[in-house]
Amino acid sequence: MKIKATHQAIHESKADHLLIGHFEKAPTNALIDQLGGNAATDFAARIKQQDFTGKSGQSITLYVDNGPVVVVVGLGKADKLSPTGLYEATHKAVAALAKSRAEKVGNYLACVEYAQIDAAQAVKLVTLAAAHAEYRYEDTKAFKKGNKHHLKTMEVAIAENQTEYLQQAAAMASGIQAARHLGNNPPNICNPKYIAKYATRIAEGHKKCEINVLNHKQMEKMGMGALLAVGQGSHNKSKLVVLKYNGADADQAPIALVGKGITFDTGGISLKPGPNMDEMKYDMCGAATVIGAFVAAVELGLPINLMTFVPAVENMPDGKSYRPGDVITSYSGKTIEVLNTDAEGRMILCDTLTYAQEFKPSVLLDFATLTGACVVALGHQASAVMTKTDGLFEDLKTAGLQTHDRVWELPLWDEYQKQLDTTFADMQNIGGFPAGTITAGCFLSRFTEGQNWAHVDIAGTAWNSKKTGATGRPVAMLVQYLINESKK
Ligand code: BES
Ligand code: MN
Ligand code: ZN
Repeated sequence: MKIKATHQAIHESKADHLLIGHFEKAPTNALIDQLGGNAATDFAARIKQQDFTGKSGQSITLYVDNGPVVVVVGLGKADKLSPTGLYEATHKAVAALAKSRAEKVGNYLACVEYAQIDAAQAVKLVTLAAAHAEYRYEDTKAFKKGNKHHLKTMEVAIAENQTEYLQQAAAMASGIQAARHLGNNPPNICNPKYIAKYATRIAEGHKKCEINVLNHKQMEKMGMGALLAVGQGSHNKSKLVVLKYNGADADQAPIALVGKGITFDTGGISLKPGPNMDEMKYDMCGAATVIGAFVAAVELGLPINLMTFVPAVENMPDGKSYRPGDVITSYSGKTIEVLNTDAEGRMILCDTLTYAQEFKPSVLLDFATLTGACVVALGHQASAVMTKTDGLFEDLKTAGLQTHDRVWELPLWDEYQKQLDTTFADMQNIGGFPAGTITAGCFLSRFTEGQNWAHVDIAGTAWNSKKTGATGRPVAMLVQYLINESKK
């Protein structure tokens, strides 16, 4: 679906379907009045009959003679509409439109004043919700015919001075789509090689982009013991994919993003239980997040230098697998006692974080579906942020609110560090039952000393139900953060 801005008045729109909101018990609707004709009389009659009141969840369809189909969605009480309410109302309406014959939709949900949502945020919410609702996964369906998709274009009506916000939202939508594509594709297709190819295609044909894929042998020479240990039981050889975007002067320090790219996590020798193990195809959603954000940053031409680092690795049980009890020397030189091969994310991240620091980044952020404990703590609503840098959480929080892709902070207090102590190495790779998300963060903090670093655990946000699959979160938050940084 193409996303475009329109500044047209609603009665001049050439769209075949129009999407309009209506507040509960509002006596009139300015947009419908502008449309006039039989739509206005029909609407007035149905309001009068209380056929439609504007309650959230309600919707009605009006037919304009020789004109568009008008879908009016209830937004509830004007003073009560929250960002979540607007996002969900838009999502539901566009999901229905995507199943209809609509080809070109004029979306008039972002050009209205909302009590609790500012204009920039409304443009983003409405656009992101629409793009999310329209997305369909068909990559591995052989029979697509019964499943025709008509919706081609969405024109979002906005004021002239909001064009920038719509461009940003459209770029976020591209990044989210890339992330969902990577996340949803099955582990027999989306393996380390596939991720490397996908990233190569992004960089190719772009003057400001570069790609470098470190292979197994190169990493062996470099001494990336922790990263390689995880992949040594898999026939799919590990790769470290490095994308670079040069949007600013060469002397400007890059922003570095690291994304966990476990293309399938069986747990290894510490094998996971059978039920829902298929969901561990999503264990590369950190990688998908940073690649998605890279796509959006390039599309926007942001005036920053950006580097994304993706360790792409498969965690399998095998005769060659690493085992509980192994002591591994990481790229940093620090040794790690493996007490659980299922705590593999931190193993591949620590070496990648060490490597990323060689490029002297101004900020270093990592994204990972790192712990089941994060889903217990925050559910599917917020990604968890851990950092020791003052102000960094606040910057991520702001970006999350701007895009309705929210984050919440967990502490990285030194008191938690002792849970990683062991007799046999510099640290062990698990911290026991209490504070599982935090001790994973503590582990990473031992490899990022002195950096402006934050760790974002996206185990609860990157995917939800089997039906929705990968959500593309937190690409929108991350892109907004990059936009905000580019203006500093
Ligand atoms: N990829 C998982 C984390 C995960 C589990 C995300 C379930 C989403 C849903 C990670 O590699 C893992 O297995 N973590 C372990 C860590 C434990 C062994 C310390 C976990 O969370 O159980
Ligand atoms: Mn695991
Ligand atoms: Zn994992």
